Amino acid sequence: MAHSYNFAIFMIVSLLPISFTLTSVKVDLIDEICSKTVIKDVCYYALREDPRSKGANPEVLMTIVIDLSQKNATFTCNLVSTLLKETIDPKLKTRYTLCLGNFNKASHILEKFPNLLKSKDYYGLSANASAAIREPSTCDDNFLEPPVEVPELREASDNLRGLIDVILVLVGFL
Ligand SMILES: *[C@@H]1O[C@H](CO)[C@@H](O)[C@H](O)[C@H]1NC(C)=O
Ligand SMILES: *[C@@H]1O[C@H](CO)[C@@H](O)[C@H](O)[C@H]1NC(C)=O
Repeated sequence: MAHSYNFAIFMIVSLLPISFTLTSVKVDLIDEICSKTVIKDVCYYALREDPRSKGANPEVLMTIVIDLSQKNATFTCNLVSTLLKETIDPKLKTRYTLCLGNFNKASHILEKFPNLLKSKDYYGLSANASAAIREPSTCDDNFLEPPVEVPELREASDNLRGLIDVILVLVGFL
């Protein structure tokens, strides 16, 4: 009797670490998604910091990222409008006007995303995300020659590009 009791304890004690290991190696969906993105910081920040993302499935994560991308696009349009109003440099005026066109276009494309997701049009989502992700880069390309792009605009542009890239990766999980 004492023998089998000891054996039971032995089994419990020796199996515990295995079950802990199994729990910790269980693949985390957010890690799996973000490891496939280009700007990983933006992906982790967007998905980990949002309270809605805890234990969320890919559809919910997609809803979150679409929402953040739209907010980011609007924020960037407003930033560029402000920069445009404040500059007197004709070269910068031209560049900001072009950038405003880019971010307005990205913003208009992103407006369609909630409906594309709702109607499960994943091809449309992916094709439109591929179109939208070009816009921030097209804006940045205006600054290949001096004067340099102000850091706030560069950051906003990188964030938007990073978020749209998360959408492109997430489509593969739907
Ligand atoms: C844009 O996205 C970045 C990265 O997720 C985030 O840090 C930032 O707060 C967002 N900005 C807005 C205005 O949503
Ligand atoms: C956006 O999605 C719609 C609906 O699927 C599609 O008709 C359209 O061609 C897409 N736009 C781009 C730029 O791919």
